[in-house]
Amino acid sequence: MKYKSQIVAYWFFATCMLLLSLQVIYGFIMGFAHMGFDNLHSIIPFNAARATHTNLLVVWLLTGFMGAAYYIIPEESDRELYDVRLAYIQLISLIVVGVTAIIGFHLNWWEGRKFLEIPRPLDYLVVVNVLVFIYNIGMTIWKGNKFSTTQLVLYVGLLSAALLYLPGMISFENQTLDSYYRWWVVHLWVEGVWELIMGSILAFLLIKLTGVDREVIEKWLYIIVGITFLSGILGTGHHYYYIGTPKYWLAVGGFFSALEPIAFLGMALYAITMYRRSGRNHPNKVALYWTMGCAVMSFVGAGFLGFAHTLPQVNMYTHGTLITAMHGHMAFWGAYAMLVLAIISYATPIMTGRKLWNNMASMLAFWLSNIGMVGMTGAFAVAGITQVYLERKMGMDFLTVQKEIEVHFFGLILAGCLFTTGIVLYIYNFIKHGVPAPGNSLTEADEVESVPSLI
Ligand code: HEM
Ligand code: HEM
Ligand SMILES: [Fe+2]
Repeated sequence: MKYKSQIVAYWFFATCMLLLSLQVIYGFIMGFAHMGFDNLHSIIPFNAARATHTNLLVVWLLTGFMGAAYYIIPEESDRELYDVRLAYIQLISLIVVGVTAIIGFHLNWWEGRKFLEIPRPLDYLVVVNVLVFIYNIGMTIWKGNKFSTTQLVLYVGLLSAALLYLPGMISFENQTLDSYYRWWVVHLWVEGVWELIMGSILAFLLIKLTGVDREVIEKWLYIIVGITFLSGILGTGHHYYYIGTPKYWLAVGGFFSALEPIAFLGMALYAITMYRRSGRNHPNKVALYWTMGCAVMSFVGAGFLGFAHTLPQVNMYTHGTLITAMHGHMAFWGAYAMLVLAIISYATPIMTGRKLWNNMASMLAFWLSNIGMVGMTGAFAVAGITQVYLERKMGMDFLTVQKEIEVHFFGLILAGCLFTTGIVLYIYNFIKHGVPAPGNSLTEADEVESVPSLI
């Protein structure tokens, strides 16, 4: 670690661990409700559990991206973070807004728009919070001694993500218009600007872990950014098929969204190629596992499973079913959750000075969570295909079908237990690192040379 202000990132990462644990608990509440055991209904109705589960996901991922930026930007800019105190204030206020939103969901204070359930007054606070963050890292870059592609792509990704939050705050009477602009946030985030954040964090990790020349890694980054925008912007049309928008979206959305997997395939090939060229035997193997895993699993979850329901002929049947949940889980996990877990695995030992990188707990955490997530995706797929067949092909009633597919959620719970064991081990290992203390962190030389590879 080059600068002591990078330690701010640790507290963002610790917050991620807490919010991820809560998210998983709400996943189980819904899993049991789907199985017919909706015992908590009077306190936590399904809609509240769902909004809490997905919003916690978005908040912990954003917290992780912010932590990553606070770690990466000073190092890439060659200076301390512009204002460390402001970063702590920003984290605390983010937690306060998040907790208020979650309590609000339980009291039926929500907007009912999937993924954008946070009530409007809190949206304004989110905007202020994010502006403070953007200002802090922006000033660090501005006052810094160095510019790099990785740093600028990360900044542009974060800034555009902040700006794209705004279309979701416009009020419409018309449901089609409301839905239309909701996708500017949801789709253009995960299939647009978040991919820039992903590409740049992956680039940083690959530079550090493989030792391949920055020029080579950053050249790939431009290509990926290009393909992402070329396919992802008009690819928004895959959400406009049947919501009351003009018919041309069937062709536009179908064509461009079918190209989107190429960006994710590019990302996977990029990571694999850099790994093969690696000239460095970096001792932190588990960070490399998460990095490579992210590149590959994002292609499976977003690229492959996204393509599976993106053509209008298919989406007509699968829209809004558990097929969407199947894809949503693996895509968010592979692309963004694994990315945040990768940077945490890389940076925590450096910040705390404890080299707990290749122990049994960290390796099992990687494998169990991934095998568990593959199982969960399979369970959603079986439930989803059955749902589509019975409800959309046979014309059976929604609730009758939900009863028929209850049994498949037993599989989801089992796979979820495996997944959760992995996450518990990950958090256990994170806690075992302890908190960073001044003077304890590893220097770049310690990091690469002093520890022999264990694998
Ligand atoms: C043990 C862990 C988990 C369980 C049991 C679980 C279960 C569930 C259930 C039952 C739903 C509701 C599906 C419906 O609408 O009927 C859901 C939604 C969702 N979950 Fe999870 N989940 C877990 C972990 C995760 C993780 C780790 C992620 C992300 C990385 C995630 C992302 C999502 C998303 C994005 C949705 C919304 C899907 C959609 O839009 O249809 N979940 N989850
Ligand atoms: C990391 C990237 C991605 C993530 C995190 C992601 C996640 C999600 C989530 C959570 C939803 C449900 C949204 C909602 O209903 O509000 C969704 C819907 C959808 N996604 Fe993705 N996705 C990604 C990439 C892709 C890609 C590359 C494709 C196409 C090739 C795709 C195709 C679709 C389609 C067609 C829907 C609509 C499903 C429906 O009609 O119910 N996704 N995605
Ligand atoms: Fe999309």
